[in-house]
Amino acid sequence: MARELILGVETSCDDTSAAVVAPDGTVHSSLVVSQADLHTQFGGVWPEVASRAHIAKVIPAVKEALAIADVRAPDLHSIAVTRGPGLIGSLMVGVDTARALGLGWHLPVNGINHLRGHLRSADLEEQRVRYPAVVLLVSGGHTLLAFMKATDSIELVGSTLDDSVGEAYDKVARMLGLGYPGGPVVDRLAREGVPRYPLPRPMMQDPELRKTLNFSFSGLKTAVRNLIERTPEASKADVAASFVEACMDVLLFRARACLERFRPRSFVVVGGVAASPQLRERTTMLCDELGVSACLPPVKWSTDNAAMIALAGWDYVRAGAPVRLAATSVLSMESF
Ligand code: KG4
Ligand code: ZN
Repeated sequence: MARELILGVETSCDDTSAAVVAPDGTVHSSLVVSQADLHTQFGGVWPEVASRAHIAKVIPAVKEALAIADVRAPDLHSIAVTRGPGLIGSLMVGVDTARALGLGWHLPVNGINHLRGHLRSADLEEQRVRYPAVVLLVSGGHTLLAFMKATDSIELVGSTLDDSVGEAYDKVARMLGLGYPGGPVVDRLAREGVPRYPLPRPMMQDPELRKTLNFSFSGLKTAVRNLIERTPEASKADVAASFVEACMDVLLFRARACLERFRPRSFVVVGGVAASPQLRERTTMLCDELGVSACLPPVKWSTDNAAMIALAGWDYVRAGAPVRLAATSVLSMESF
């Protein structure tokens, strides 16, 4: 008999992930197989290497997720698989695997927007978000602000015009010779340094640009490159601290403007960069000041995982969303 459980599959970047999730967000199993060690030598994700690793890892991950959840595959309600945005080769591995499993097990398959997964990740395990909510998604691929009146009412209100903040962390890490993934290392080093170098706070000075809820990080990244070239004696920790402080100032400045504009009940911060203790601390302070409930889910739900894709899958089921299974590297946040 069909059980109220969705199998989620996520292969959009460099983590192979499978999970089994109930409609209320209860996570029966969640597996994330990281490929970070494969990509370190390249200083970033090498797409072809990522796709090949997904091929090797996705079926074992699905098998293990089902075993941990103690569910027989044909008894599932359906399968939810990330169809975009992301690396096209990696996405195709996930989508084709899910499609084949769906055929073999006679289960419906829904192609899910990865960004919708991130937006819902804070409600995994327990319902943390109170609506209306403002969500800041800060990851390697995206930096955006969304206003959610409810789980089925999503409006994109700001996004980056160039690099994402996670990408800036990764590039700065490469400039400092710290390897990949860069975020956690830059973050750790920053806590040992002093933010003594003045770096630009993009779009915070110009009176017109101050009003937007968009972001830009490529100028900041270039400023760090110039700083390293012109001041080779600068300590890496001080450069990292200066960079992190500039990122935090920009993120929090926009977050404040967005919260003042929409007056939500919750402010949710998700995505890999939400692992940053500096961001968590400053978010909590801002929310205390503005009387908004700060919603910072555990880091395991903030970074890429298939549980958030399965939870978004339940939204698709409830909404009767169109079944779209074409993998696509570009997909706007508002589309299914
Ligand atoms: O959400 P995520 O796992 O994958 C994407 O969808 O992109 O985010 C990965 C990003 C990487 O850029 C990584 O450097 C960054 O999150 N990151 C961090 C931290 N941990 C991971 N950035 C800042 N501080 C951290 N502690
Ligand atoms: Zn992601």
